[in-house]
Amino acid sequence: MSVQDPFAQPLLTFPDADKSPLSIRAKALVFVDPRSRQLREQLETLAPKSVPVLIRGETGTGKELLARHIHRGSDRAGLFVSVNCGAISPTYADAELFGYAAGAHSGSVSSRAGWFGSANGGTLYLDEIGDLPLAIQTKLLAALENHEVTRVGAHQPSPVDVRLVAATSIDLSKAVAAGKFHERLLRYLHEGVLELPPLRDRPGDIPSLAEYFLGIYSQRLGLAVPLISDAAQQLLDRHPWPGNTRELENVIHFALLVCSTDVILPEHLNLPVGLAAK
Ligand SMILES: Nc1ncnc2c1ncn2[C@@H]1O[C@H](COP(=O)(O)OP(=O)(O)OP(=O)(O)O)[C@@H](O)[C@H]1O
Ligand SMILES: [Mg+2]
Repeated sequence: MSVQDPFAQPLLTFPDADKSPLSIRAKALVFVDPRSRQLREQLETLAPKSVPVLIRGETGTGKELLARHIHRGSDRAGLFVSVNCGAISPTYADAELFGYAAGAHSGSVSSRAGWFGSANGGTLYLDEIGDLPLAIQTKLLAALENHEVTRVGAHQPSPVDVRLVAATSIDLSKAVAAGKFHERLLRYLHEGVLELPPLRDRPGDIPSLAEYFLGIYSQRLGLAVPLISDAAQQLLDRHPWPGNTRELENVIHFALLVCSTDVILPEHLNLPVGLAAK
């Protein structure tokens, strides 16, 4: 990704990807299909603004990668902090997210900033935001709107400046209707919505993504980059990719491990061959 024009190329790369442990998995964003190019334009518009963003997309479509690019395309100097809301224990969600003051728990001699405080000046990425308990959603919205947060056990709020990028694979308006998600938080998030289509709906990305993953994994495995046979390419193009880009990445990685020639054939792809052209 060039510093002057971070969105100029279909293949965006991070200049310091090798130095930053946070961007190890996020070296490039392949956008070739017209739908992806349209998304890139939206990303370009939203990234430099400080507005919250909600990324909607199926599993494995690249939501976290997109979120990292949003952070990169902003001028926010703080960290990109990624939190999987489904993995936070409901009992400790308040302390984990918002931190705690010294002495808040028996045995806690020092204070902790929490994920929210760690993202101060940067971007907080909340994956599967629909999994957050309702009480935490309320506190999150207040912290975002008031730019301050009160740690568990603290008497005074601390100022914080956090940009929220959230992701969901479910329809949050249905969660609102079911009383599981705060309508006001959804409205807050609706300032910037990015729809990441499933891979099957942007077939133009498949060959470029396959080529990209071939390059990355060949290099990692110390192999020459093989070609993809026409029949193998047809298989890739026709597969419905329920696991989206992550599944394609895994299929290409597997193909490299089992292919002993310089051409990838259908039998090297861990895919149902019935989809191949007759
Ligand atoms: N456009 C893309 N270009 C290059 N790599 C991509 C692209 N989209 C996704 N990937 C890669 O695919 C994998 C899955 O992406 P990511 O983890 O961002 O998906 P996700 O939508 O957050 O998945 P989940 O819903 O399971 O959390 C990652 O290794 C990511 O680097
Ligand atoms: Mg993710």
